[in-house]
Amino acid sequence: MEIDEKRLRKLESKVLAYRIRIKDADQRKIYDEVFDESTLLTIYGMMSSGILNTLDFPIATGKEGNVFRATTADGDFIAVKIYRISNSTFNNIQKYIAGDERFKNVGKSRRRAIFLWAQKEYRNLERMASNKIKAPKPIKCQKNVIAMEYIGVDGNPAPHLKDVEIRKPGKLFKTLFGHIKSMYQDAKLVHADFSEYNILMIDEEPTIIDVGQAVLTKHPMASEFLDRDLKNLVRFFKKHGISKDAETLKSDVVGDG
Ligand SMILES: Nc1ncnc2c1ncn2[C@@H]1O[C@H](COP(=O)(O)OP(=O)(O)O)[C@@H](O)[C@H]1O
Ligand SMILES: [Mg+2]
Repeated sequence: MEIDEKRLRKLESKVLAYRIRIKDADQRKIYDEVFDESTLLTIYGMMSSGILNTLDFPIATGKEGNVFRATTADGDFIAVKIYRISNSTFNNIQKYIAGDERFKNVGKSRRRAIFLWAQKEYRNLERMASNKIKAPKPIKCQKNVIAMEYIGVDGNPAPHLKDVEIRKPGKLFKTLFGHIKSMYQDAKLVHADFSEYNILMIDEEPTIIDVGQAVLTKHPMASEFLDRDLKNLVRFFKKHGISKDAETLKSDVVGDG
């Protein structure tokens, strides 16, 4: 992508130098990768419309994007997920989208594919919220940027399930299985990347995140994705002394058992 360097720097000094807090060289690197001109403008638009006041620090850097903690004018924290445009790792997703009926108007534009992907994640979050399944509440989606509820304690992002001590594995299993089941039966979604990496924990309460790749239950791959999600659940809880059979769980989820 071509970046008008002068315009970008001007924009940067005008607005974002004050509003995006950069602590060190590592953060500067992340900043340069994720904030192309279009993304800066989107963030600026969200600042102007009062969705956030400052971007505080990156919580995570992934293959496709970054998640930041941000603060609103009221001093509340929110999470901002930014899908990277300027870097080509999104080729994966373009491949994924090509040949899919729903995305037939996307054409070859990677940008548009990314915007659509963000929109999909946002809509999936809406489905989670309207069916009362624990996930970040969606706030706003604009282009490649999603603002959502911040899952954390005292400003610190919540730890992943893989990193916490589990005191009541039986209870937690039930809760998580209940979420998968409710996602399927009520929200009509299959997560498709369900694992201990995409579950955040506050005390013993799980929140499901990262629903960008979640598909509708009528999607041709839904059954396969559900198998995989349930296998991940079973594998994880086996290590915690809970023995379950993925096939039996599946019957329960899809309601033919
Ligand atoms: N709403 C949120 N609140 C707090 N932390 C979040 C939130 N969403 C994501 N994160 C953090 O950012 C990481 C990456 O986000 P995720 O949605 O899983 O994207 P990906 O894994 O595709 O990069 C998560 O593992 C989590 O640590
Ligand atoms: Mg993730």
